[in-house]
Amino acid sequence: MKDASVEPKSVATRENESTGVSRFVRACLRQPVDRTPVWLLRQAGRYMPEYMAVRKHHSLLEICKTPEIAAEVTITAAERLGVDAAIIFADLLLPFTPMGVDFEFLAGEGPVVHAPIRTLEQVQALRTDRVEDLKYVAHAIEKVARHFSAPRADGDQLGIIGFCGAPFTLASYMIEGGSSRNYIETKRMMYSDRAAWPLLMQKLVDVLVGYAAQQVEAGADVIQIFDSWVGALSVTDYREYCLEPTRELVRRVQALGVPVIYFGVDTASLLPAMRETGADVIGLDWRIPLDQGWKALGYSCAVQGNLDPITLFAPEDVLEARVREVLDAAAGRPGHIFNLGHGIVPGTPVENVIQTVKWVKEYEAR
Ligand code: CP3
Repeated sequence: MKDASVEPKSVATRENESTGVSRFVRACLRQPVDRTPVWLLRQAGRYMPEYMAVRKHHSLLEICKTPEIAAEVTITAAERLGVDAAIIFADLLLPFTPMGVDFEFLAGEGPVVHAPIRTLEQVQALRTDRVEDLKYVAHAIEKVARHFSAPRADGDQLGIIGFCGAPFTLASYMIEGGSSRNYIETKRMMYSDRAAWPLLMQKLVDVLVGYAAQQVEAGADVIQIFDSWVGALSVTDYREYCLEPTRELVRRVQALGVPVIYFGVDTASLLPAMRETGADVIGLDWRIPLDQGWKALGYSCAVQGNLDPITLFAPEDVLEARVREVLDAAAGRPGHIFNLGHGIVPGTPVENVIQTVKWVKEYEAR
C-alpha cells in the first residue's frame, strides 16, 4: 500500500532539497550529469595502507564509535581515490547494541552474536527506544560534511552517503549468530513463526528509520540500504516475507528528503521485486550484465554498479576493458553510478583502484 500522504511530498522535497551541484545526487535522481559519478563499495577497507595504519591502534568498533577517527578514515579514502562520494565509516551491525543484542568482531570470522535471537520472547525483548545511542555515527557524518562543504576544483560537491542494513540481512545476523551459508535458522523463523518474524521486521524497520534520520540530519545526502544476503531468498519468499518491511523502510527514509540506494548480492532474479520497494537506485552485483539488470528493472530507476571487485587483480588491459564494458552497457542513460558489484577485498592493489576511478572519469571525455 502506498502512503499517499508521504509519497508526493517526499519526491517534491527531494527535488528541491538536492543541492543540484552534486553529480552523484543528480544521478541518483536520474537527472543529467556532466560525467558518470563513481564511488566504490568498501572504499575505506583493509586493502588500504592508511586504514591498516589506523587499525593497528584501534579495533573496528573503536574506529566506528570515535567520530574523529571514523571521519578521518572516511575522508582519507575518498580523497585518495578521487571518488565522487564518501560513505561514512561504520558497520551494518552497530544498531544491534541499542536493541540489546551483544556482538563482537572476531579476527578471521567476522561478526559473532553470542546469544542468537531464535524465539518470540527474545524478539519481544528487543529494544527500539535507544536509537539515540547511535548518535556517534551522526557526529562522524557532521565532521565529514563539514570537511567536504566547499565544492571541489571541478565545481562539484562531494556526495555523502549514510547507510544501514536491510531488515532481512540484519535479521539473518541476529538469528544465525553470524555469517551463514544456508540461513536455516533465519528461514525456519521466517516460515514457521507467524508472530516472531513480522515483529522482528517491524522492530528493525523502526530502529533503522530513526538511525537513518540521525544520519540525514547530520548531513548525509543519500542513504544506502545494504541487503547483502537477500540473494539467498527465492522470489516467492522475498515477496512474502521481506518486500513489505523493506518497502516501508525505503518509503520512510525517502520521506526524510533523501534518495535511497538499495543494494544486494546475487539478485538477478529478484530485481523486479526489489524495484517494488520504490528505491531511487538499485545496486547491481557483477553477475548480471548492467544493461540486462537495468532492463529487468524496466529502466524505471537509477542503477549502481557493477564491476566484479576481483577484476581489480587483473592486468591493466583486462581491467580497462571491463570498466569500459560497464560504462558502455549504461549507454549514457541518465541514472548510472559507477561502482563495484560488491566490496573491495583485502589485498586489492590500491593503484588499480585509483586507476579504475580515473578511467571512469575520463570515459566521456574521450
Ligand atoms: O568504506 C567502506 O565501505 C567501509 C565501511 C563499512 C564497513 N562495513 C566497515 C567494516 C561498510 C559499508 C560495512 C557494511 C557491512 N558490514 C556489510 C555490508 C556490505 C557488504 O559487503 O555487503 C556487512 C555484511 C557487514 C558486516 C560485517 N562487518 C562483516 C561480514 C565483516 C567481516 C568482513 C571480513 O571480510 O572480515 C565486517 C567487518 C568490517 N566492517 C570490516 C570493515 C572495514 C573489516 C574488518 C576490520 O577492519 O577489522
